[in-house]
Amino acid sequence: MDTLEIVKYPDKFLRQPTKPVENINGDIQDLIENMAFTMYESSGAGLASIQVRCDKSIVVYDAFPTDQEKRSLQVIINPKIIASEGKVLSEKEGCLSVPDIRADVKRAAAVLVEGVDREGNPVRIERDDFLAVVLQHEIDHLNGTLFIDRISALKRNLYKKRIRKQLKQKK
Ligand code: NI
Repeated sequence: MDTLEIVKYPDKFLRQPTKPVENINGDIQDLIENMAFTMYESSGAGLASIQVRCDKSIVVYDAFPTDQEKRSLQVIINPKIIASEGKVLSEKEGCLSVPDIRADVKRAAAVLVEGVDREGNPVRIERDDFLAVVLQHEIDHLNGTLFIDRISALKRNLYKKRIRKQLKQKK
């Protein structure tokens, strides 16, 4: 298994909407394995394909990425949010592609997601817990949206400034 390089903001690749996976072949299975490996190595609760420079719609996630006992890999291909309900404040949300910032994000409290599993079977997932937020965050990625798009313009602009400064110093 390989650790994949995680695409970081402000790389424009993160901004493109992904396309559906049409054929769940060996390459896709390998990609899923490597995505899972990379997610666990980074102690993340979710990873979307676009974050590892693949423009197909795949999400891996796990509610307990750092707990060897409770860990259980979840995979959803071509996921769509079919319905959402309620409101919750996702506290100190973060993203492996958006380093050095955590911020509160308003999210739906519950979601119904449809997609297919690794065998191509249709799946329906209903969550009203931490994973409801993870699914929203990851499905946002597949649509080219980052969590910083959902925070106040003031906070976002401060972050952009900080990143620009860092990139300039690196040159
Ligand atoms: Ni993310």
